[in-house]
Amino acid sequence: MNILILGSGGREHTFTWKLAQSKLSNNLFVAPGNSGTAQIANNVNINVNDFEAIKELVISNNITMVVVGPEDPLVNGIHDFFLSDDVLKNVAVIGPEKAAAQLEGSKEFAKEFLYRHNIPTAAYQSFTKDTVEDGCAFLETLTPPFVLKADGLAAGKGVLIIQDINEAKTELRNMLVDAKFGDASSKVVVEEFLDGIELSCFVLTDGKNYKILPTAKDYKRIGEGDTGLNTGGMGAISPVPFAGQELMHKIEQRIVKPTVEGLQKDKLPYKGFIFIGLIKVNNEPLVIEYNVRMGDPETEAVLPRLKNDLVEVFKAIDTQTLNEIDIEIEEQSAVTVMLVSGGYPETYEKGKEITGLDQITDSIVFHAGAKNQDDKVITSGGRVMAITSFGKDYNEALKKSYQNIDKLHFDKMNYRKDIGFDL
Ligand code: AMP
Ligand code: GLY
Repeated sequence: MNILILGSGGREHTFTWKLAQSKLSNNLFVAPGNSGTAQIANNVNINVNDFEAIKELVISNNITMVVVGPEDPLVNGIHDFFLSDDVLKNVAVIGPEKAAAQLEGSKEFAKEFLYRHNIPTAAYQSFTKDTVEDGCAFLETLTPPFVLKADGLAAGKGVLIIQDINEAKTELRNMLVDAKFGDASSKVVVEEFLDGIELSCFVLTDGKNYKILPTAKDYKRIGEGDTGLNTGGMGAISPVPFAGQELMHKIEQRIVKPTVEGLQKDKLPYKGFIFIGLIKVNNEPLVIEYNVRMGDPETEAVLPRLKNDLVEVFKAIDTQTLNEIDIEIEEQSAVTVMLVSGGYPETYEKGKEITGLDQITDSIVFHAGAKNQDDKVITSGGRVMAITSFGKDYNEALKKSYQNIDKLHFDKMNYRKDIGFDL
């Protein structure tokens, strides 16, 4: 079958790499893709939110499956767009419909869902510009640090964690009254701070059945020791060593099951990945957030551990027969380390030539912000490449990634040398 993957990051290169190994896949298309996907698929220069152009591409290339990488097109209703079109309605779309994508598109929607279904999460209240003074009063009842979350999508920047009460009130006003994050902060969720260690759980669901994929932990801060600004993610480890059987049992019973059942009860059709951001507090798991897609760079560590044919798995999602699939996972650990442009996540230069790619042994290089120019590969984004390796444990795997990174070069290349430091 012919398959279209939407997106252009390391996550999408990983999906393409995995789908290319399937005996069921023929022509793969990636929109817009990168230099990595160009090696194994056809890149098509279409924006992930240009549904009409995607429709034309799907029809003219007899594409029967669309795998949606990022959240934007899902929140914008790409799955609904396909379902409501006579020609496209039988195309398998991997990713939830718009109503369920609100689990990521609106923090308030997600909190209401969690509360409605008794899924453990931080206490909260939400506020608008008309209730900003109530918000300030609510802050007074909490102990620092204070957690303020813009309700809508804010490119990963919408969560503020603030120590000082007066600063928290000022930021709440900035968000609500001065639209600090535009429309995304017309509503703000104020939340109890949870002190613990984070991990991510990935679930595949067809809306009725679910399968739990390996856990992962990502490293979001730019600086070593988890310091400095937040990024999209600087590296990931799978599995998470502290997520033993007991914790996983609690996660499944208290969080995964009620989430999938809650989607059914609330009549929210869901065919795709649920990425559950968790925090472990005193050995109890709580939900920090839902995402309606896979994580990046978590995908680069999780998907290589999946032994199944991914097209078969996706077909089972489409036909709601996921219960008939046995998920098989590679026992070894996988890690990924992101190479980023100097200056990222603030301003950085692009167009730097990447060398050493032909020297890599025993690691997989997933391209992210990289593109082809003549016969060179050059940087085109902040997060440039993810270097994934396997090992009997994460330390052995990390060693391989770091050895290979020593062979790679581009001007002002930066990466974290301490992935896994806290485990
Ligand atoms: P979110 O976008 O909701 O995942 O939040 C971004 C990050 O903020 C999370 O990965 C956590 O590190 C942190 N965070 C969010 N909510 C809380 C909370 N209630 N307590 C502590 N940290 C939080
Ligand atoms: N790495 C975090 C995310 O994909 O949201």
